[in-house]
Amino acid sequence: MIKTNEVLITKEQLEKRVAELGAQISKDYEGKTILLIGILKGSVPFMADLMRHIDGDVEIDFMSVSSYGSSTKSSGVVRIIKDLDKSIEGKDVIIVEDIVDSGLTLSYLKSHLLSRNPASLKVCTMLDKPARRKVEFKPDYCGFEIEDKFIVGYGLDFDQKYRHLPYISWIKEE
Ligand code: IMP
Ligand code: MG
Repeated sequence: MIKTNEVLITKEQLEKRVAELGAQISKDYEGKTILLIGILKGSVPFMADLMRHIDGDVEIDFMSVSSYGSSTKSSGVVRIIKDLDKSIEGKDVIIVEDIVDSGLTLSYLKSHLLSRNPASLKVCTMLDKPARRKVEFKPDYCGFEIEDKFIVGYGLDFDQKYRHLPYISWIKEE
């Protein structure tokens, strides 16, 4: 049986931290237009909340990626399922992600997007599980560092479920 009733990060804690991240980003990018790139589908609630806490000009776009089969997983090559609508050349880009786990997805994505010549490229993640890293990767902005648990809620899924939860919980299999 799967239980998700233990709340790890409450709705109120999420709201407070997202507001802080928005304020920090607004300060760091003063006078610039920011292009937020949300990685589907997990980043959706975080992206929607974060952008409403940024003062200044914001544009948004989305990308959907998936890792290749498990045999090539360690290579960190990801397949682009939905690409961006527009060029990011010369733009100040922030990738918005739900969680950094092994770091493979974001380190690949970051080097891939850098080849498209943005003016700048940073990463903002809601959660970070540094204990699980397979490649060195440090997000520029991070909501919460968490221990090695399988997380659901606020965009994160288990078998496509629980993304809608307004808080962050973790899965306990019994
Ligand atoms: P990475 O390439 O291992 O860093 O994988 C990142 C992706 O794996 C995230 O964007 C999530 O979609 C998924 N993921 C990693 N950890 C969790 C978790 O605890 N719960 C749900 N999805 C996760
Ligand atoms: Mg994801």
